[in-house]
Amino acid sequence: MSDSKAIAIRTENLVHTVNTSAGDLSILKGIDMEIKEGESVAIVGASGSGKSTLLGLIAGLDVCSQGEAYIYDAALSRLDEEQRAKLRGQYVGFVFQSFHLLPSLSALENVMLPAELSGDLKAREKAEGFLKQVGLSHRVGHYPRQLSGGEQQRVAIARAFASAPKILFADEPTGNLDAETGNVISDLIFDLNRSLGTTLVMVTHDATLAKRCERQLIMSAGRLSEAE
Ligand SMILES: Nc1ncnc2c1ncn2[C@@H]1O[C@H](COP(=O)(O)OP(=O)(O)OP(=O)(O)O)[C@@H](O)[C@H]1O
Ligand SMILES: [Mg+2]
Repeated sequence: MSDSKAIAIRTENLVHTVNTSAGDLSILKGIDMEIKEGESVAIVGASGSGKSTLLGLIAGLDVCSQGEAYIYDAALSRLDEEQRAKLRGQYVGFVFQSFHLLPSLSALENVMLPAELSGDLKAREKAEGFLKQVGLSHRVGHYPRQLSGGEQQRVAIARAFASAPKILFADEPTGNLDAETGNVISDLIFDLNRSLGTTLVMVTHDATLAKRCERQLIMSAGRLSEAE
């Protein structure tokens, strides 16, 4: 059967090795994967198996040691830092495991920033809307240090949504949230997937969230396999 959907993410024998004081550490050992545009994919697996490392490479935040990762047709290792930043700006939203909010900006300013940088005149309005959706209308003026872990996580999610990315990468998006808030956030993420056709790539230890994705990939000691 033919399927005309574009391939949003692809890797070819992706290998990542880092130097440590104890010698070379092989984190990813040859990953081949394909994710179609609009798909929702969960990456699951034990702590330390290489999930966040993989996400960083396929999102163009870092460059692999060998092999190749593609966002649409762009081979990421052939781009320099600036070109990768531009590509990320065009395609990618990222929710980090450790939030990465800018400490000197308020919640609202953090969410507005990406849209503002891309010249969106409605950046503020949109940011307020997304903060409302994640239940933080009462905290827009707070700085990251004045927010709880779960609140910071929700700001990071609102910020990722605000740029209406074609591909959303999320590392444990519900990791710091209670079950109820986690469900609200999951619903929002899947709404984005359905309404805008956003490709979702999520790392999660949350089995319920993983099951909502169309596909589950299992990372085990630097190798990736497809779940049944
Ligand atoms: N820059 C680095 N230098 C040295 N070791 C690293 C580096 N980055 C990651 N590692 C190691 O590689 C392994 C994989 O890390 P990674 O963060 O990808 O795991 P993970 O699957 O996301 O785990 P978790 O579920 O705990 O977030 C870990 O053992 C980690 O200590
Ligand atoms: Mg991780």
